[in-house]
Amino acid sequence: MIELKNVSKFYKTVKAVNDVSFNVEEGQTVILLGTSGCGKTTTLRMVNRLVEPTEGTIFVNGKNIQAQQEQELRRGIGYVLQHTGLFPHYTIAENIAIVPRLMQWNEQKITERTRELLEKLQLDPDKYFHLYPDQLSGGQQQRIGLARALAANPPVLLMDEPFGALDPVTRAGIRKEFMNLDELKRKTILMVTHDVQEAFEMADIICLMDKGNLVQMGKPTELLFNPANDFVKNFFSDQRFLLGLQSITLNDVWHNLKEAPANEKAYAVDPASNLLEVLEMLSSNNSSITNYVAQNGKGSKSVTLPVILSAFSAYKTMEGHG
Ligand SMILES: Nc1ncnc2c1ncn2[C@@H]1O[C@H](COP(=O)(O)OP(=O)(O)OP(=O)(O)O)[C@@H](O)[C@H]1O
Ligand SMILES: [Mg+2]
Repeated sequence: MIELKNVSKFYKTVKAVNDVSFNVEEGQTVILLGTSGCGKTTTLRMVNRLVEPTEGTIFVNGKNIQAQQEQELRRGIGYVLQHTGLFPHYTIAENIAIVPRLMQWNEQKITERTRELLEKLQLDPDKYFHLYPDQLSGGQQQRIGLARALAANPPVLLMDEPFGALDPVTRAGIRKEFMNLDELKRKTILMVTHDVQEAFEMADIICLMDKGNLVQMGKPTELLFNPANDFVKNFFSDQRFLLGLQSITLNDVWHNLKEAPANEKAYAVDPASNLLEVLEMLSSNNSSITNYVAQNGKGSKSVTLPVILSAFSAYKTMEGHG
């Protein structure tokens, strides 16, 4: 859906982006991760032609973006900016309706779509429709930024640090909310963050960048357990254990779990749970539950603390994840 081929952007002597190639498949969420100044935003903005590459080619939906009108291209690509980028003199409704108006939707359709998006993002349309951005909290503004990007239902979404302006607690909450939105599940998403935790929660694929270079691209578990070099290894070193537990599910370690005997009183554990969730559940100390069982198409397994820990160790040392 999005394809970068040997793309570079040079500013005089600065190699902001250096010979980067990658694909984002339809429906995938790919995250550009890396420290400040590594070239994430520049890479993102080349996809909707806010920045023109010095070298290389970019395709969106199979078409070379250089061969398209910028306006035309951007209508198919929602863009969420780091600091929301809402227009202060426009109401919430006017901000959301910018692209639909450019596309000359009729007013009734625009109003319906705006109200629908506000509702989906947990903001009462009657209350927020006519307010201005500075009357909203940071988290609410972030939601409006997303609503604006989604308004004309573009198949592709670019998001630059969409939660960057928020405190950690609000950030985690809104992230969960976004991830549960049906509208987002169908999109092809290229997103920028420097937050490792965020990248692991949201990404199908992570592109780790350093000094303009794409150092490694892969599933979160691949970067974590099969790092391409010391840079990748060190990048995750202080959170390795936690990230590992979060990115592996019971299904992933299924063959290392023990068959569970039939037991009606057993507490059913979702096999799609990650190991951190499972450990939290097991240690929550609910003494009325003595037996945890996970069940999927392949059978049922009992879930205990020692088994989970040993399955985790076995997974970590296994080669070629995913
Ligand atoms: N318009 C510009 N003119 C000159 N240099 C630029 C320009 N835009 C970006 N750069 C440089 O290119 C490099 C990459 O910048 P970019 O904004 O892509 O980084 P980033 O990874 O998004 O960083 P951050 O996490 O701080 O947002 C930096 O060294 C930056 O100074
Ligand atoms: Mg940036």
